[in-house]
Amino acid sequence: MKRLVKEHVEFLQECRRTVQTTGAIGPSSRFLARTLARPFERHPGPARILEVGPGTGPVTRRILKLLKPGDHFDMVELNQTFVDVLNRRFKDDPDFKPHAGRVKIHHLPIQEFRSEAPYDFIVSGLPFTNFPPELVRDIFGVFFRLLAPDGVLTYFEYMYMRRLRQAVSVGADRSRLAQLDDVLSEHAQRHRIRRHSVLRNMPPAWVHELRHADQVAQHR
Ligand SMILES: C[S@@+](CC[C@H](N)C(=O)[O-])C[C@H]1O[C@@H](n2cnc3c(N)ncnc32)[C@H](O)[C@@H]1O
Repeated sequence: MKRLVKEHVEFLQECRRTVQTTGAIGPSSRFLARTLARPFERHPGPARILEVGPGTGPVTRRILKLLKPGDHFDMVELNQTFVDVLNRRFKDDPDFKPHAGRVKIHHLPIQEFRSEAPYDFIVSGLPFTNFPPELVRDIFGVFFRLLAPDGVLTYFEYMYMRRLRQAVSVGADRSRLAQLDDVLSEHAQRHRIRRHSVLRNMPPAWVHELRHADQVAQHR
């Protein structure tokens, strides 16, 4: 309980400072974390997993629980404060500490991240609803370049948040949200294999599960 309160306080402090890129009112619940990491639960052997936007680490915690010998886990986080929080967890949190040394935190925007090998699983915590549509398009381009041919990508968004914000926004923001809708719908149509609802999160969220377009038919 103490750990959860601390995680919320750290997250909220940072959210106030960097609302555009943090884009949430609190860290993801364990139910949302579990759903985001679900495709990784079933992985049979050594796999490569990438978490984008780990924040204070609620999804990281779940991924670490599922790591098997030989797995490779990278994280990409833009915000220095969150990188510091994560590094601290790898020093003193009992769920994180045993994995220190085999996990790498890359401190940079995902748009600039390069990898020599593709990932079997990508889990994104990025707040797309706050981003310009061109950035979201670029980031999906990066995700699909990094994703192995039979890899799975998960990301979340708060239920109905885009629609709600569209209804109350005006001017440039309204048009940004309409374009964002087009980008996300296009990707859902081409790449989404399923969508899960997670009610036990504040606010409730959808988790989207995506694959390369040529894999979609056999997994839908
Ligand atoms: C909504 S928070 C999610 C945090 C955490 N995954 C969770 O579920 O509680 C978004 C996270 O994405 C990070 N972020 C935003 N833009 C990013 C970018 N372009 N590249 C990497 N991380 C980014 C933020 O710093 C923040 O940690």
